[in-house]
Amino acid sequence: MTSIETIATFEKYVIGNYRRYPVSLVRGEGSYIWDAEGKRYLDLFPGWGCNLIGHCPPRVVAAVRDQVGKLIHVPNTWHMEPQALLAKALVERSGLDAQCFFCNSGTEANEAAIKLARLNGKPNGRYKIITMLNSFHGRTYGALTATGQEKYHQGVGPMLAGFVYAPFGDLDAAAKLVTDETCAILIEPIQGEGGINLPPKGYLEGLRELCDKHGLMLIFDEVQTGMGRTGSWFAFQNFGVEPDAITLAKALAGGIACGGLLAKKKYAQKLVPGTHAATFGGNQIACIAALATVETIEKDELLPRAAKIAEAFRTRFEAMQNRSPLIQEIRVMGTMIGIELAIDGTPIVDECLKRQLLINCTHGNVIRLLPALNLPDDALQAGCDIIETVLLSHKS
Ligand SMILES: Cc1ncc(COP(=O)(O)O)c(C=O)c1O
Repeated sequence: MTSIETIATFEKYVIGNYRRYPVSLVRGEGSYIWDAEGKRYLDLFPGWGCNLIGHCPPRVVAAVRDQVGKLIHVPNTWHMEPQALLAKALVERSGLDAQCFFCNSGTEANEAAIKLARLNGKPNGRYKIITMLNSFHGRTYGALTATGQEKYHQGVGPMLAGFVYAPFGDLDAAAKLVTDETCAILIEPIQGEGGINLPPKGYLEGLRELCDKHGLMLIFDEVQTGMGRTGSWFAFQNFGVEPDAITLAKALAGGIACGGLLAKKKYAQKLVPGTHAATFGGNQIACIAALATVETIEKDELLPRAAKIAEAFRTRFEAMQNRSPLIQEIRVMGTMIGIELAIDGTPIVDECLKRQLLINCTHGNVIRLLPALNLPDDALQAGCDIIETVLLSHKS
């Protein structure tokens, strides 16, 4: 079908709960993607953070092709080798004395974490969870309530009881919210959707101390930061702060749907049979794809590449900042890049699309790039050239 035909079919049959660009994408390879008319786009926001090792990573493609002919799905009443090996691979790379639960998405991973925090706290009357303003944890009711952004709660209340919110970066505010009923703090170590907000120095360490003092679980939502995005397997490893549990999804399986919760064993053991489940969670296809993702990141030495990409983008954007009054602040860690603008970012994203560059705008005025770890240098520079042209020529 042509893009126009696909769009017309969408309009008739698909619920319009997404704002979609008028393009139908059909093929991807690395950091490039093609539309139905054969037009090529450079993708600096591949798969909304899911394609951290690029589109159609060859090892993932080969592993899935092989697995799909052997066994697609069996329920979690059986043991399966790929799930066992994936849990081992993640736990070993986390350095935590932990165990895994698998599901299919970030929101589900956070639901599992919320349940675990309550299962752990409830016997002592603790069920409340502190999360942060501007956070994003997903769209199901638990994760949505945890999301500290009023706009996402509007019209769908009442939300789940037992969540309170502190401004991100404000340790005193978090401390003030702790009561005898608090069971956990849930936080993105770097806020993604909230605008690529980096934690102030000492903040995550302070939250760790607060949790230790009051017997709370510290849970890091690493759905966006995990799997090497920040140059370490998990963002917590950059800050030297050990959480009690982390949640994962997005890049976990190279673009195949997969989510996971890693929890320290003393907490993980609270998830006994009957407490939680996900029918498709940990299925063979997702787990084999995640194992191929881990293999790719290691064999292609992609973790150190994150810092190089970060530096190259930072250099380019700092040079642009000298020439463009639109750039207010540049926030970069690994391949999480946020450029705060003085204006709404939507026209910038639209203009880049016209020039065949895919980027994102979040939080109204923050240009967000989540490029692949294997983004080639020439593509990085070409993408920056386009953004620079668009920013310098923008007339408000
Ligand atoms: C930090 C974080 N947590 C959770 C989610 C929800 O993930 P999913 O859309 O896979 O449910 C997202 C999605 O953007 C996210 O960025």
